[in-house]
Amino acid sequence: MTKDFNQLINYIERKLSFHGTYYEKKYLKRRIRSRMKRTKTDSYSEYLQKLKKDQNEQKELLDTLKVNVTKFFRNKDVWSEIDTIIQELMEEKRRPKMWSAACSDGREAYSLAMLYLKNNGSSLTNNIVTGTDIDEKALKKAKKGVYKSSRTVDIEKQLSYLKNHNEYIENDGQTYKIKQKIKKLCNFQHKDLIADKINKKFDLILCRNVFIYVSNDYKMPIFKSLQQALNPGGYLIIGKTETMPYKLRKDFKTINRRLRIHQKKQ
Ligand SMILES: C[S@@+](CC[C@H](N)C(=O)[O-])C[C@H]1O[C@@H](n2cnc3c(N)ncnc32)[C@H](O)[C@@H]1O
Repeated sequence: MTKDFNQLINYIERKLSFHGTYYEKKYLKRRIRSRMKRTKTDSYSEYLQKLKKDQNEQKELLDTLKVNVTKFFRNKDVWSEIDTIIQELMEEKRRPKMWSAACSDGREAYSLAMLYLKNNGSSLTNNIVTGTDIDEKALKKAKKGVYKSSRTVDIEKQLSYLKNHNEYIENDGQTYKIKQKIKKLCNFQHKDLIADKINKKFDLILCRNVFIYVSNDYKMPIFKSLQQALNPGGYLIIGKTETMPYKLRKDFKTINRRLRIHQKKQ
């Protein structure tokens, strides 16, 4: 069973270019089993045979493995703190640098840019927010900045955190289009948090809801590179169910334990 599972992961890694080894085995198994159920295959080896022959299934599996779920202003209690942090940063410097690491389809990065303008940031500036992700398809959507409401995705509700969101996003029925003044504040790049280095420095980093499924071996290296990318006094916000490794805690001040907001010591 382990051998069959490993062979399947090897295939996914080599042929489908998905870094299976980055992620928790439990997470991978759960996702692969959901595809096995759909395709009525009973074992990892049987599923591997199907995968080799069926290009459509390769695509379906990749979509299942890449969890891109995101929202504008996801977890409103966290965003109300982010709002305050942005205001404080802007009192210190006019153009704080912000990074949405693992930004998925860009909604988190655009949420940051909207708060920057709401707090009287200059719309004449460019590239206040960097959004990065490993998934090219998600990045393409981020760069486009067009989102659709559906039965399960209520964009209006997500945006309700900001009363004046119409100033930043055009709503044409079910479709929401990010306005140019917000788009120009953001830039999106492909970055693998495990394999790539980021040379810029930031005042605020959001890296949320990615550690939940990254294998333990890779968590520390990611945290280390986030720490390096922060200016002294800069903020790091991780997902509400994620935890910072014990070893790193001495280098950070906890601003809000429940909301996972940390500040790099000076
Ligand atoms: C669940 S989404 C989280 C999106 C957003 N941060 C949020 O909380 O709403 C996780 C994202 O992490 C990205 N991801 C997974 N592994 C990554 C890696 N090694 N480097 C960069 N991004 C990664 C995925 O492509 C996906 O878009």
